Amino acid sequence: MINGILLTKKIRLTMSGILNSSIGRKIAMALSALFLIFFLIIHLAVNITSLFSADVFNDLSHFMGTNPLVQFGLQPVLIFGVVFHFVMGFVLEIKNKKAVGTISYKKNNGAANSTWMSRNMIYSGLAILAFIVLHFIDFWIPELNTKYVVGDMTGLHNGEFRYFHELVEKFHSPLRVAAYVAAFILLALHLMHGFTSAFQSLGMTASRKKFLKNFGLGYSIIIPLGFIIIALFHHFNH
Ligand code: HEM
Repeated sequence: MINGILLTKKIRLTMSGILNSSIGRKIAMALSALFLIFFLIIHLAVNITSLFSADVFNDLSHFMGTNPLVQFGLQPVLIFGVVFHFVMGFVLEIKNKKAVGTISYKKNNGAANSTWMSRNMIYSGLAILAFIVLHFIDFWIPELNTKYVVGDMTGLHNGEFRYFHELVEKFHSPLRVAAYVAAFILLALHLMHGFTSAFQSLGMTASRKKFLKNFGLGYSIIIPLGFIIIALFHHFNH
């Protein structure tokens, strides 16, 4: 009987071992963050071509949207990464709140030993989540519908590739552009803390700290700025 209980406990520990320890959760969160940080570079690189050439953007979009490796290999991993990051973000926030409640600090002097960005990661994260929902309704769900519900894999509309035209159309509305730009600013704030925090969780050494901090700051400004430029460019040019 005792052996049985021990065995059940052991199995439970092996299954959820990593995610049940506070260090394990932080490392899992950091790895999912780095994965999304890498995705944002690729996503920006593809979308920024729309500023220079409708043809290049159309060709890249068609390739990414119809290549089986991207569609059935990389895309499910990406969606899992996005969902995992959000779920773990909530879990960490709840656990942190509970931990603070059990320790009787003399004075919770947050502003003195942490930045505004680090204390509000959950709020900037929630705003980005709201953006992702809007963004999926705008682009991803119609794309899945055309390809897998309607069954049209040609990427054509009236004999021409439809991707560039669809992108431009989305940025007509000033309200949508404002919502996107606001989300990209919050994304910058989220990344400013998130980038170095992820490396810290993975055991960044003191000698690399300064470099990664500066690199993270550059990344956090350049990537969201690139997205802002795309939204504004198509709004004012078409
Ligand atoms: C001006 C800025 C952006 C534009 C024009 C844009 C454009 C697009 C397009 C066209 C798709 C559909 C791709 C397809 O399935 O064929 C897409 C999907 C997606 N976007 Fe964006 N995006 C922008 C910013 C962002 C940002 C900032 C994030 C993350 C914070 C993001 C996350 C995603 C995700 C997770 C998907 C679904 C996966 C995929 O199909 O690649 N996007 N985006």
